[in-house]
Parts: sequence; structure tokens; C-alpha cells
Amino acid sequence: MENLEELVSQVENPLTGKTLGAENRVVSVEYKGQDLYVKYKRDGIDPDTKKVLEKNILNCLADKVDEDNLFILAQSDDSRDVLAGTAREPEPKNSQPAQLKVGHGTVGEKRRIPKVKHVISIGSGKGGVGKSTFTANLAVTLAQQGHSVGIIDADIYGPSMPMMFNKRDHRPQATDEQKILPLENYGVKFISFGSFIHEDEPVVWRGPMLGGVLNQFFFDTDWGDLDYLLLDLPPGTGDVQLSMIQNIEVDGSIIISTPQDVALLDARKALHMFDKLGLHVIGMVENMSSFICDDCGKEHFVYGTGGVTTACNELGVGYLGKIALDLGVRKAADFGTPYMWNAQKYEGSKIWNSYREIASKVDSYFNPDDNKKKGILSKILKK
Ligand SMILES: Nc1ncnc2c1ncn2[C@@H]1O[C@H](COP(=O)(O)OP(=O)(O)O)[C@@H](O)[C@H]1O
Ligand SMILES: [Mg+2]
Repeated sequence: MENLEELVSQVENPLTGKTLGAENRVVSVEYKGQDLYVKYKRDGIDPDTKKVLEKNILNCLADKVDEDNLFILAQSDDSRDVLAGTAREPEPKNSQPAQLKVGHGTVGEKRRIPKVKHVISIGSGKGGVGKSTFTANLAVTLAQQGHSVGIIDADIYGPSMPMMFNKRDHRPQATDEQKILPLENYGVKFISFGSFIHEDEPVVWRGPMLGGVLNQFFFDTDWGDLDYLLLDLPPGTGDVQLSMIQNIEVDGSIIISTPQDVALLDARKALHMFDKLGLHVIGMVENMSSFICDDCGKEHFVYGTGGVTTACNELGVGYLGKIALDLGVRKAADFGTPYMWNAQKYEGSKIWNSYREIASKVDSYFNPDDNKKKGILSKILKK
């Protein structure tokens, strides 16, 4: 077999004109089943150059592997590099691993998280409907649209952000003031229970014990200025949801559902609970709404059509859009590069456009005037 690593090593870094091999950027090129995964170090490469570089990698492998089976992963030693163009914050002196204070949260007055403009909780009636995948992709999309974005992965039963953001082995550090520094990748900051526990460890923080940890994620984490903080909640209507709304002001919620009746029933329950707790529901998203066949390109509505739209009409809630069931979405999530980070591969696809549209709707909900102005401005500029 030809040495694919050798081929990738010959690709040039458009910034320097030197090959990836010469700059020691190639981390690995390996097959997993039919899929070829190329990992390279992207430190110092801005998003525009990254697009060109990845297109070049894709071209150099074009006759070796089908585009659908090729996954290019940019790795960054200094994750802040990913936010090219933004000021680099200095690393804290004597950085040290952050510690969690497991204990009862104190319930006081509801507070806003300092310097965070909009807090959005993302919920579902049950697990496995794609809530975390959606949250990760919405965050990346909002960041691409110019917002500063963070995620709190509050799903103690199945934390998934460290995997989805390719930071499984990273432990958040603490600042000199003992604040937790969120991890960061793909232009998004996040904090997760998963970064503090071993994946095989039984999760012992249950119920009220969680309040303390969540409070730390809200108030003892150095989020900086954020436009959006997304909360990936555990499924259902339990203690985490209660702790959350006892302590912070949430500005809106999004509910994810698959189109089957059962999931919808659960989604309705979640909606009623959110309503009771006074959380305004911005709208619902239908995930895994249809299956687009790789071979024939035909769209199959495995779970029927229109379930979530009908539910939204019945319940008087907004409908934000739908995301099809797609192998690319699944693989991207499992491999640690969110679908929406793979512009060179997916830009312009139906799913890509759906995520962009949903993100714009969410943003218009919070900044209606801004978006109106932008709309008018773009019309003027086009003329
Ligand atoms: N639109 C989609 N198409 C294909 N697979 C998806 C899609 N959304 C989510 N998945 C996959 O479904 C599984 C459950 O998704 P996840 O986001 O972890 O759900 P939840 O957070 O609701 O439990 C994951 O393997 C994920 O990759
Ligand atoms: Mg999840």
C-alpha cells in the first residue's frame, strides 16, 4: 500500500510555502474501517488558510479515498490559536488543575452570570435524541457567525462535550484566583463534568450534590465576555434543571425532539416543565427528521413527516428547523470535529444550511433590531 502519510506530508502550508512534513504538522494518517482519518497540527494557521490547506489535503487524496470517507482533523496544542484574529489571553501564572467543590449548592436569589449576554438551555424529553450534537453544532455555527460562545455540559449521566470537542484528555486549569478556565476548541469555550471524572468511573454526584458543581460552572468559571452560553442539560426534568433555574437567569430554551410520537410525547412533557418553571421556550428543533440515502440521494422519512411542526402548532411554540439523520453528522460528532467545523466538506449541504438558519433564528430572537439592520444593510450593499 502506498504511504498515505508521505503523500499528506508533501502538501504545502499556504502560509509558509513549506510542506506539512517539513513543519512536522502531520500527526497521523490512518484507516478506521473504510474511513481515512488525517490529523494535523494547525497551530498558527488562521481559518481562511485552514480551508485552503484542507482542500489541498483532500485533493491530494482524491484518487485514494472517497470524499465521504475522509475526515480531516485539525489539532491545536494551544487551543486558543483556533480563535485566530482574537487577542490571546496570557496563560495564568503557575497554572494548576481546577478542582471541583462537590457539595450542596446554596440557593439564593437568581443571579445573572457576569459578562454573559444570553443564556440558552437546551433540553429534551429523553436521551439519545441528539441534544449534545445539536448543542455543539449550534455553538460552532454561532461562533462562525461572529459571536463569542460557551457551553456548559451539565449532563452528569452522559457528558459528551470533551469527546465532541476533541478534548477528552484535557483537564481544565485554574487561574490564580481559583477560577476554572474553560477548555476551548473550534472557537467555542466549554466546561463539562466529563473533564473531571474518568469515563469509566461511576458517577456519584447525584441530586442536590450537583448544585455546588453547577454553581461553580456558572459563577467560578472564567468565561470572559460571552454573547451566548448554551446549557446542555441532562434529559428529562430532574435535579440539574431545578438547580439551574434556582440559581441563574435563563433567557430562553430550545427543545430537541425526534419526530416519533414517543419522543414527541416526552418533548411535550419537557415543554410543560419549562413552562411551569417560567423558562421561555424559543422553539423546537426536529432532529433525525429524515434519512438521505448516500446511494440514491433520495430523502426517506423513516419516522413520518411534520410531527414536530404539528406539535409546535398545537403547543403554540416556535419551530426552529430540522436536521436530517446523516452519517456525516454522527461520524463528525464521534470523531471530535463538529459537522459545522468541516466547511470544506459540508458547506452548502442541506444540513449545513439548516444549522445556519437555526442559528440565525436564535440570534434574531435575541437581537431582532441588529438583524433587521444587517438585512437592510446587506440589501443596500448588494445594490
Ligand atoms: N442528525 C443526526 N444524524 C445522525 N446521527 C445523529 C444525529 N444527531 C445525533 N446523532 C447521533 O446520535 C447519538 C446520540 O446523540 P447525542 O447528541 O449524544 O444525544 P443526546 O445528547 O440527546 O443524548 C450520537 O451517536 C450522535 O452522533
Ligand atoms: Mg447528551
